[in-house]
Amino acid sequence: MRIAVTTPTGNVGRHVVATLVRAGVRPRVLLRDPGRLAPDVRDEVDAVPVDQYDADAVVAATRDVDALFWVNPTSGHGDPLAEYARATDSVVRAVTENRIGRVVFQSSVGAEKRHGAGEIDGLAETEIALDGTGVDVTHLRCGYFFTNLEFELAALRAGTLQVILPLDQPMAWVAPRDIAEVAATRLLSPDWSGRCVQAVHGPADLTWREVGDILTAATGRRSPWSASPTTPCARNSARREWSRAWSRPCSACRRASARTSCPNSPAPSGPPPRPPSPPGPTTSYDTGSPTTSRKRAAGSRFL
Ligand SMILES: NC(=O)c1ccc[n+]([C@@H]2O[C@H](COP(=O)([O-])OP(=O)(O)OC[C@H]3O[C@@H](n4cnc5c(N)ncnc54)[C@H](OP(=O)(O)O)[C@@H]3O)[C@@H](O)[C@H]2O)c1
Repeated sequence: MRIAVTTPTGNVGRHVVATLVRAGVRPRVLLRDPGRLAPDVRDEVDAVPVDQYDADAVVAATRDVDALFWVNPTSGHGDPLAEYARATDSVVRAVTENRIGRVVFQSSVGAEKRHGAGEIDGLAETEIALDGTGVDVTHLRCGYFFTNLEFELAALRAGTLQVILPLDQPMAWVAPRDIAEVAATRLLSPDWSGRCVQAVHGPADLTWREVGDILTAATGRRSPWSASPTTPCARNSARREWSRAWSRPCSACRRASARTSCPNSPAPSGPPPRPPSPPGPTTSYDTGSPTTSRKRAAGSRFL
């Protein structure tokens, strides 16, 4: 089976590549700079230099491919929806022109809303476009990556955990490596077809207070973590939209019922968009003494 993998240097893609290699597959990896591949996989893959926004290049790079792991690259500019739309054009053309049999798409919790979830709306558009091709597709609706905390390292070192949701509101977190295991399993398995939606969450939803406790336990820092004031900058606004989406998984994505199941059902007509809830209060957060989170003991991979 010929499997192509996009973003092989990304949080999830690099683990997808490693998992496929361990499974005995030699994946074709599409990336801008092959020199950025992890040294231990360089000799185990066929690397094709590709810009995912260049649809012609993506089509050329995916000829003769049976299965494709597609990730819309993380937006590097101010208009993620426009970039996701360009990426969508590339994957639709590749699937259509090369008659690729199956696609695993890295989507997000919140895509089921279709509108009102900020950047996630762009992932929803990709889902809809892939559905329209008739390809066998699995949309992985992922929780909030633990690796997002790496963007906050400077603030965390200074003892600040930026909190946007109310402290005790749970949301779905997940380790990218866990997503990769699900993605690789999907790519390798012949036992599914049609349109599938699969939620990929960690073993437990976590509140920001619990995440703070985990961080305190992991770092040994006893200094208080405090929420930064929510400023009206674009970044905080985006985080707020995403956080809202992640904090309210739809019934189809609830971990208990759908973490490993695939409804294999026809595309729904789509739930009506829900109005966004007001942002949570800006809250001071003082963990005081470190405590070990029960959730972490439950097996969540952290960073
Ligand atoms: N963060 C979350 O909590 C979360 C949750 C659900 C879904 N998602 C979605 O997951 C995706 C991001 O996945 P990730 O975190 O695994 O990726 P990531 O670590 O942010 O890496 C981005 C990847 O995109 C590649 N890339 C960037 N621009 C490219 C281009 N023009 N052509 C080809 N490759 C390009 C980068 O390659 P280089 O080596 O060339 O830089 C890198 O491999 C986004 O679509 C996001 O919406 C994120």
